[in-house]
Amino acid sequence: MAVSGGIAAYKAAELVRLLCKQNVDVRVVMTEAAMQFVTPLTFQALSGYPVHSELLNADAENAMGHISLARWADMLLIAPATANCIAKCSHGLADDLLSTLYLAASCPVYMAPAMNQAMWSKPVTQENIQKLQAHGVKFIGPAAGEQACGETGFGRMSEPAEIVAQLLSAAAQPLAGIKVLVSAGPTREPLDPVRYITNRSSGKMGYAIARAAAKAGAQVTLVSGPVALAAPENVAVIAVETAAQMYDAVLQRASDHAIYIGAAAVADYSPAIVQPEKIKKQAQQTSLILQKTEDILAAVANLDRHPFTVGFAAETHDLENYARSKLVQKKLDMIAANWVGQAQGGFDSDQNALQVFWPEGQNTLAMTDKIQLAEQLIRLITEKFHEKNTA
Ligand code: C5P
Repeated sequence: MAVSGGIAAYKAAELVRLLCKQNVDVRVVMTEAAMQFVTPLTFQALSGYPVHSELLNADAENAMGHISLARWADMLLIAPATANCIAKCSHGLADDLLSTLYLAASCPVYMAPAMNQAMWSKPVTQENIQKLQAHGVKFIGPAAGEQACGETGFGRMSEPAEIVAQLLSAAAQPLAGIKVLVSAGPTREPLDPVRYITNRSSGKMGYAIARAAAKAGAQVTLVSGPVALAAPENVAVIAVETAAQMYDAVLQRASDHAIYIGAAAVADYSPAIVQPEKIKKQAQQTSLILQKTEDILAAVANLDRHPFTVGFAAETHDLENYARSKLVQKKLDMIAANWVGQAQGGFDSDQNALQVFWPEGQNTLAMTDKIQLAEQLIRLITEKFHEKNTA
């Protein structure tokens, strides 16, 4: 949490107390001006940690303070955010620890403005706020009412309890307002009116991912192949059958979504000719001519306005190599790989484990039920998505 210099800084002390009561791990940064209103000792006593205030510190441990603090935080709250602090952040200035921390932070940023009502309504302040909002900063308040300067109007910092309530609900819903497109299940490639080629995908992983994204507050559309699963709550399901139908349904919507998660087991090949009538049993042997289907995931990742694109790789061997090369070849932001074949979870099972790769790193999500696993994967996707968007 960062405190800039306004009279509402005294309310920031209550804010730290309430956050700590909710078991939130808080580190406090103060500007020089904030320290004129409240002492660092107050925040140190309430948070249990020393307060950071200097950008350049000869002490080696603190020399990279702004970068390590920015990396450490899951969320940055600037409260109170003065007109000066908002102006500096909106222009990318970095001349003190607070503004530098804002610039270095890749986590979600919240600001609780506090200033005189005339300063709040000044067009330049409103322009700065709009600019920050366009860059993803969320504003809490200000409230209207009596001000320390004796005037009345908008500019009072929201009450600490209100700020904490909004932060906690945002922490529980990190994808609030974000549109997520998921594809799930197998596809069915018809040979004739009664037969088709398909695979063992149950759709459970994709459905669990759609459910977890909706739980995280996202607006979710699920393009689903034929499965025996109920639609997750608050998820719009588009039912398709073939790989070609899935391609159309996904590509029509992808540019309009911020995140695409391709968890479907799309057929790689489909019969070149679909016989209009049932194929009769005749020769001792017969063969099928199959042709490659379009790669939906690669097509999405190649769109001009492409969403943050996450693929899956189900492998029976050499998992890391295949997953990493798919990540690069298909130009994905992330790939979740799992073993299939032996008794390893994966297809048709209620359990799974995932090895997740992105260009700069990887993570292992241990074997657990698909509902839990999907929630862990959504947390990882959310983190990398926000990092990319604020980069
Ligand atoms: O190349 P491979 O099929 O193993 O890659 C798996 C990933 O690619 C999955 O995310 C799957 O949904 C996607 N895929 C696709 N369209 C295809 C084939 C696979 O979107 N035609």
